[in-house]
Parts: sequence; C-alpha cells; structure tokens
Amino acid sequence: MKARIIDVGKYVPNLSISNEDFTKIMDTNNEWIVQRTGISSRHFSEINTSEMAYQAVLNLLENTKFNKEDIEIIIVCTCTPDAYSPSVANLVKKKLKLSKDIPSFDINAACSGFIYGLKVVQGLIESGLYQNIILVGSENLSKLLNFDDRSTAVLFGDGAGAILVQGSNQGIIDTLIYNKDDINGAINIPNGINIETPFTNNQCSGPAHIQMKGQDVFKFATKVCINMLKEIVVKNNLTFNDIKCIIPHQANLRIIEYAIKMLGINKDKFVITLESLGNTSSASIPIALDSIKKELKKGDKLIFVAFGGGLTYGVSLLEW
Ligand code: ACO
Repeated sequence: MKARIIDVGKYVPNLSISNEDFTKIMDTNNEWIVQRTGISSRHFSEINTSEMAYQAVLNLLENTKFNKEDIEIIIVCTCTPDAYSPSVANLVKKKLKLSKDIPSFDINAACSGFIYGLKVVQGLIESGLYQNIILVGSENLSKLLNFDDRSTAVLFGDGAGAILVQGSNQGIIDTLIYNKDDINGAINIPNGINIETPFTNNQCSGPAHIQMKGQDVFKFATKVCINMLKEIVVKNNLTFNDIKCIIPHQANLRIIEYAIKMLGINKDKFVITLESLGNTSSASIPIALDSIKKELKKGDKLIFVAFGGGLTYGVSLLEW
C-alpha cells in the first residue's frame, strides 16, 4: 500500500504587499529585492494560522468532494502556531465540527515541515494504520517579522496549503528527511517569552522575530538541495528525464537557479511561485503544487525538496 496525494487545496490571504510598499517603511528598493530574491510581492494574513489552515482544508474538500467525516487524522505542519496549546491541527479539527474524536497534531520542522509531514503520512498509510489523512502546511510568518531588519522582513509571506492522502497502489515512492545541527544559529525564531517562576531565574530567548544569517542559510540551502535531488533520483534508479516537475521550497530564486545550473536540469521542470508569494515556509510546497495540479497526469513523477530552520531538510519523490 502506498500513500497517494488525491488532491490539494490552498488559502492565500487577499492582502498583497509589494516591494514598493516596503520602500515606504524601510530603506530598501524593488531592484535589490527582485535581484537578490526574485520576490516582487507577498501576502499578509489578517486571520491566524489555524483559520488559514481551515480555509485551505475547506478548499481541498470542495475540490475533492471528499466527505469530511471520512477524515481519519489531521496533521498540520507549522512553525507559527496560534498557541502552545491547543495545536493548530486541534483547532482545524474543531472548526470542521467533525462528529468523531479523530486524532490531530502539529509537526514543526520549519520550512521542511511539509516534507517531514509527508514522511509521517507515508509511514501511517504504508503501515496500514490509516487510509484517509489530511496534511496541511500553514504559516503566519508576517507576525514574526522584524520590520527594522530589511534583510529578513522582505522575504516572507503568509498562506496555507492542504492535501488529502489516501492508501493506493501508487503514490509516494520515497521520502528522505534530515537534520543538521545549526551550530552557528543560522535561523532562529525565539518565543519571546520571559519565563518567570518564583523559583527560577528569568529566561528569555529574545524577541519573537525571525533572525537569520542569510549567507549561511544560502550556502546550506544550495548544498542540501543539490545533494538531495541527486540522492533521491539515484537511489530510485531514475534520471531527471523521468521527472515531470520539481517543486522546491520557495525561499529565494537564486537558490533555485543555482541548483538548476549545478544539476543541469531544464528550468521549466521547476515550479516557481515565490515572485508573488514570498517564502511561506511549510506552506510553500503545497501552495505551489496547487498552482500546477491541473497540468498533472496520473503516473507523472514529481519531486518536492525543502530546507529550513533547525537545520532541517528533506526530499520526496512521488507518482501523481
Ligand atoms: N534592501 C536593500 N538592501 C539590503 C536589503 C534590502 N531589503 N537587505 C540587505 N541589504 C543590504 C545589506 O545591508 C548589505 O549592505 P552592505 O553591503 O552595505 O552591508 C547588502 O545588501 C548585502 O547584504 P547580504 O546579506 O550580503 O545580501 P545577500 O546577497 O546575501 O542577500 C539574502 C541576502 C537575500 C537574505 C540571501 O542571503 C538569502 O536569500 N539567503 C537565504 C535565505 C533563505 O533562503 N531563507 C529561507 C530559508 S529559512 C526559512 O525558510 C525559514
């Protein structure tokens, strides 16, 4: 039994923030942002992570005509949850008003969250434990931006993507997930909480803002992207000619273009949505998948590849 993606849904907030909008609040310009990142605009949400995730699931259910009562488990990938508890997945389940007490939980693997989620879903289906799973990537990164830091504030956006995965005779072929120690603190999002008890010293990891050493992340991302893409095709006795399309995590066009150049793959195989969405972390791959789903035919082979805070990274090869 394999885990097959049946369909995908998405939620992208209405509010689009252009590079020009950023020039009104900080010392930046459209040329720098476009040249260094490929991003022209991004969407900022006025609803929280769980509501975006719920909207993506509603869009998915509408597309598939799948009866929500047949969902057996809900998993949400996010590094921007509404709260420590309940989890975003718990809140999505509550919003769906299901009659059964099905399990739901979150996964946090930063921008690699969706690949980590796929690995979990693959295991749950291949083992025969579950047959109908909803996997969501939902992120509200705009709320964690430091608008005094022009090198990170312009990179991120909000959104959510959701997939329905079912047991089938074809589907996910292989998923590889990894975690390299972030020794120099290349990406951090502190919780911003001043933990005070009558018995302990205050501990605060810093304001709840994305902090990133851009060049360190750039080097890490290009290296693991290239290595993972090679690894997954070789391991499965394929070549890039066998792959219909590759959906990379949408962090920076230069990272994607570098991988394309080093691997000698045709650029047309890469799905790129970051120009109008920015980096939506664990939501970026399902949202990009939604953008091309009408072009996919049964049996097409796809690769998803991601990297992010942690430092996490992962790749998944599947048949549509
Ligand atoms: N507008 C104008 N100038 C800027 C801006 C801006 N928004 N941001 C930085 N600069 C300036 C800097 O101040 C610096 O000026 P200086 O030379 O006078 O000191 C100059 O541009 C160069 O800065 P660098 O940091 O060296 O620029 P770089 O080419 O490395 O680009 C960037 C920065 C875009 C962040 C790049 O390093 C990058 O994309 N890294 C990878 C980030 C990434 O992929 N993150 C996603 C993974 S993590 C996750 O998804 C959670």
